Amino acid sequence: MGKQPIIETERLILRPFELSDSKRVQELSGDSKVAETTLNIPHPYEDGIAESWISTHKHNFNSGKSITYAIVIKDTKEVIGAIGLTISKIHRKAELGYWIGVPYWKNGYCTEASQAIIEFGFKELNLNRIYARAMDSNIGSWRVMEKVGMKYEGTRRQDAIKNGVPVDLKSYAILREEFYRCRAD
Ligand SMILES: CC(C)(COP(=O)(O)OP(=O)(O)OC[C@H]1O[C@@H](n2cnc3c(N)ncnc32)[C@H](O)[C@@H]1OP(=O)(O)O)[C@@H](O)C(=O)NCCC(=O)NCCS
Repeated sequence: MGKQPIIETERLILRPFELSDSKRVQELSGDSKVAETTLNIPHPYEDGIAESWISTHKHNFNSGKSITYAIVIKDTKEVIGAIGLTISKIHRKAELGYWIGVPYWKNGYCTEASQAIIEFGFKELNLNRIYARAMDSNIGSWRVMEKVGMKYEGTRRQDAIKNGVPVDLKSYAILREEFYRCRAD
């Protein structure tokens, strides 16, 4: 792939993370409220974790494995969260994942960023299916999925282990044909 493109929405810029964002990532994703409902964010969020995570992004993008963006408020240039797609090239599908820093919750930012990356996934990455999973209790996350046009596909029982405990995950997806159909309406 070429260079990871920057994506702009009405209020946000999605751009690749830089190592200089590490402190901010640690501050925001180190909040226990963010770690609580995610599967891959450690808690406590030790020094160096953000740097290691950001260091993987370029290689993962170049190899077509995943694409990760910092979510930045256009006006203030603050990093407020992260969003990404983990790609299966063979099946032309990707899993959408995201987190937003607690002070910025419920402003529609995740919905806005998700809409943009879904559009990018279908138009630029030529994906056929974009899916996402969230814990049953994570109302905010599955509300985002519903708002961006994903359909509920069922709950996978004990689909992950969280802090040593099996958890059920609600599964949502949007298909390429659905994305283009709703744009034609
Ligand atoms: C889930 C998360 C990303 C939502 O981000 P956000 O920017 O607050 O989401 P939005 O503002 O776009 O909200 C979308 C909808 O969900 C609702 N919502 C958001 N958080 C909610 C909550 N905690 N409880 C109930 N509804 C919630 C919003 O009100 C909005 O619905 P509405 O338009 O009908 O009012 C954010 O809460 C988060 O980062 N949580 C921790 C990490 C995480 O769970 N990531 C996802 C793992 S699957």
